[in-house]
Amino acid sequence: MSDEPTVLILNGPNLNMLGVREPSIYGRDTLGDIEAACADRAEALDLSVDFRQTNHEGELVGWIQEARSAHDGIIINAGAYSHTSIALMDALQASELPVVEVHLSNIFRRDSFRHFTYVSLAADGVICGLGVQGYLLALEAMARLIQEKE
Ligand code: DQA
Repeated sequence: MSDEPTVLILNGPNLNMLGVREPSIYGRDTLGDIEAACADRAEALDLSVDFRQTNHEGELVGWIQEARSAHDGIIINAGAYSHTSIALMDALQASELPVVEVHLSNIFRRDSFRHFTYVSLAADGVICGLGVQGYLLALEAMARLIQEKE
């Protein structure tokens, strides 16, 4: 069994539609492409990743609660729940894990209702606007955050 730190990468609603969903905003990569890129980068960083997607807020909350004892950090793109969910913010805070928030698009160049995120109130750092690369940068940042916590 490996003793590499494990990072939970969570993806919220509609991110299963990447590749066909508004490609001018989100690009042509599918969630599967992002998962594969994360697995490669994680290997180089000696991390293991657990990559998940759901369209259900409560499922995200449950996974975050379980992460407290099963994972060493959380990277989260909560999609539209980022802007609405106090429950997700509370769960992330209660996890006491390092958290990095990711958005593929630059939420600050878009509708004003996307400028605020509850998730960011529980995050150590936020990356947005860099597409798939944002997930890879989040992994780099997470490797450092986990090291600092040890
Ligand atoms: C998103 C930005 C959100 O505002 C939107 O609701 C999404 C995707 C992003 O990755 O850019 O679903 O989180």
